[in-house]
Amino acid sequence: MIPVALSPAHPLHDGRTAQSPLVRALRAGTTGERPEITPVWFMRQAGRSLPEYRAAREGVSMLDSCLRPDLASEITLQPVRRHGVDAAIFFSDIVVPLRLAGVEVDIAPGVGPVMGQAYRTPDDVARLVEAELTTEALAPITEAVGLTVDALGCTPLIGFAGAPFTLAAYLVEGRPSRDHLAARALLRSDPETWQRLVDWAADLAGTFLRAQVLAGASAAQLFDSWAGSLSHADYADGAAGASTRALTHVADLDVPVVHFGTGTEHLLPAMRDAVVAAGVRDVVVGVDYRTPLDEAVQLLGGTVPVQGNIDPALLAAPWDVLEAHVRDVLRRGGVAPGHVANLGHGVPPDTDPAVLTRVVELVHSVSAESAAASGVEVR
Ligand code: CP3
Repeated sequence: MIPVALSPAHPLHDGRTAQSPLVRALRAGTTGERPEITPVWFMRQAGRSLPEYRAAREGVSMLDSCLRPDLASEITLQPVRRHGVDAAIFFSDIVVPLRLAGVEVDIAPGVGPVMGQAYRTPDDVARLVEAELTTEALAPITEAVGLTVDALGCTPLIGFAGAPFTLAAYLVEGRPSRDHLAARALLRSDPETWQRLVDWAADLAGTFLRAQVLAGASAAQLFDSWAGSLSHADYADGAAGASTRALTHVADLDVPVVHFGTGTEHLLPAMRDAVVAAGVRDVVVGVDYRTPLDEAVQLLGGTVPVQGNIDPALLAAPWDVLEAHVRDVLRRGGVAPGHVANLGHGVPPDTDPAVLTRVVELVHSVSAESAAASGVEVR
C-alpha cells in the first residue's frame, strides 16, 4: 500500500523512526528482518511509579493532565529520559476520547474510569451515540503529540486507543468491574443495541488513534484489555468486527499496529485476524504474562511479531529471579519473526523505577550478546 495520508515530515517518513529498533521489530512480519537490538518499553511506563510523574501531576486531575499539552508531553517523555526505553507511549487514557466527545466521565484515583451514568437501554445508547468527536476537540491531543515527537527525535512515539469492547465494558457497567457481566449480558440479550454501541465506540477510538498518528505517532496500539472475559463466540459475534472497524481509521496510514488484551490466550488468532481484516499491513499481537511467548507464537502460526510478556509481579522479586525470567522471555520471543520486549500488563504503581531501568539494560545487553554470538554486527 502506498502511504498517502502521512506527510513527508512525519517521523516515519523523514528518516527519524523508520529504522528504529521498535519500528523494525513491529514490521518484521513483513520484512523478515529482526533488528539487532530487541526493543523494550513498558505499558504504563508513564505514570505512578515515577516520582517526577507524581510531582508533575500534583494538584491536577488525571483527565485534566491528559488535556494539557505541555504536561501530557512532559509526562510522556519522562520514562524515555529515565529508562532509555526504545519507545514512548503517549500519556493519555482510553476514556479521553469519551471526555472530548462530551460524555461525562472521570478517572477516580485507585479505581479507574467512572461514567456519569451506565448506558444499558436502547434509549441510553441512542442518546450516547449522538456524541461526536470533532477535530477541534482533538486539538489538545494533536498539540501534545506534536510537542512530544519534536522532543523525541529518533525515538518513536506509540499512539493508542481502547478497543470498542473494552470501552463498552466501562460504558455499560458505568464503572470498572471484574467480570463485565452487564456488558456481556447486553451483547447477547440486545445484539442490535450492543452493535450500535460498539460501532460508535469503534469510530470514536479510531478517530482518536488517527489523530495521534497524523500528528506524529510512528506506531499504534489498540488495547482490548478486558476482551479475555469473552468466550470465543462472544468475541467473534460482538467484539472483533468493531475492533476491525476502529482500525480501518488508520489502515491507509500504513502504521504498524499492536493489538493487546489480557487473558486472551484463546483469542490470539482472532485478535490478529481482526487487525488483518482492517487492511493493516504490519500486525503485531501483544501477549499477557499468562502464555509463554513461544506458545503464543505457535498459536499465531509463527507469522506475526509479538510484544510482551514479562510478568509485572516479578518486578518486585529479587533481581536474580527477575533476570532469569527476562532471559527466558527473550529466549522464547526469539522464535517469533520479531519481538518487542514489554510487560504482560501495566507497571504496578509501587514498582521501584531503578528496576525498570535495569530491565532495559538487561534486554539490550542480552540481545547484543546473542547478536554477537550469531555474527551480526551491532550498531
Ligand atoms: O504509560 C502509559 O501506558 C500511557 C498512558 C496510559 C494510561 N492509561 C494512563 C493512566 C495508557 C496507555 C492507559 C490505557 C488504559 N486506561 C487501559 C488499557 C491498558 C490497561 O492497563 O489494560 C485501561 C483499561 C484504562 C482505564 C484506566 N485508567 C484504568 C484501569 C486506570 C487505573 C485506575 C487506578 O488508579 O488504579 C486508569 C487511570 C490511569 N491511566 C492512570 C494512568 C497513569 C493512573 C492515574 C493516576 O495517576 O492516578
